[in-house]
Amino acid sequence: MMTTRLLAFSGSTRHGSLNSQVLQTAIAGAESIAGCTVTLINLNDYPMPLYNGDDEQAHGMPETTQKLLRLFEEHDGLLLASPEYNGFFTPLIKNTFDWMTRNEPDGRNGMRVFKRYPVALLSSSPGIVGGLRSLMMVRMYLSNLNFLVLPEQVAVTGQKVHEGKITDERLEQQVFALGAGLAEWVQN
Ligand SMILES: Cc1cc2nc3c(=O)[nH]c(=O)nc-3n(C[C@H](O)[C@H](O)[C@H](O)COP(=O)(O)O)c2cc1C
Repeated sequence: MMTTRLLAFSGSTRHGSLNSQVLQTAIAGAESIAGCTVTLINLNDYPMPLYNGDDEQAHGMPETTQKLLRLFEEHDGLLLASPEYNGFFTPLIKNTFDWMTRNEPDGRNGMRVFKRYPVALLSSSPGIVGGLRSLMMVRMYLSNLNFLVLPEQVAVTGQKVHEGKITDERLEQQVFALGAGLAEWVQN
């Protein structure tokens, strides 16, 4: 049996983040597929300064960015939960990926790691559409970085999230299936 390793993180590091909560269901879906394991990380553990060209010139790519790129290399796909800020995804997501598209100390460009890298997207926000607009934007952004963004995506209204669980059964199944679908895509 093929072993599949997926990476998962939330675009919010807020304590009690809705996105971190709904991500758990997608992870459970992925882990329901035989041979699939998921590594959940918190971007708080990979702090990076806000990108600035002078800073890059002086110090190069941060070590945290290089560490995150190695993690991507060690995994086969990504589950990403994206909050919505004013119809967009978060500056944390943008800054983290922007840094990763820069050159590493050996001169190789980080973006090589993302070529056709499968990613499944979900979002959550308190509003009724659950951050759907951010998904369109993060899809476009990650496509620019050569990720292979799977067509399925789920936006979860926070009104259906309670203590880490999605209370609407259909929605819960959709998020579970999103995670399972990514694992199956990677395995096949
Ligand atoms: C700057 C800012 C802008 C926001 N804009 C939107 C928005 O456009 N649509 C929306 O549904 N929620 C919006 N929200 C509310 C967030 O979706 C909400 O805070 C959510 O809980 C953040 O995700 P998290 O729970 O994973 O941290 C915004 C929040 C902030 C801080």
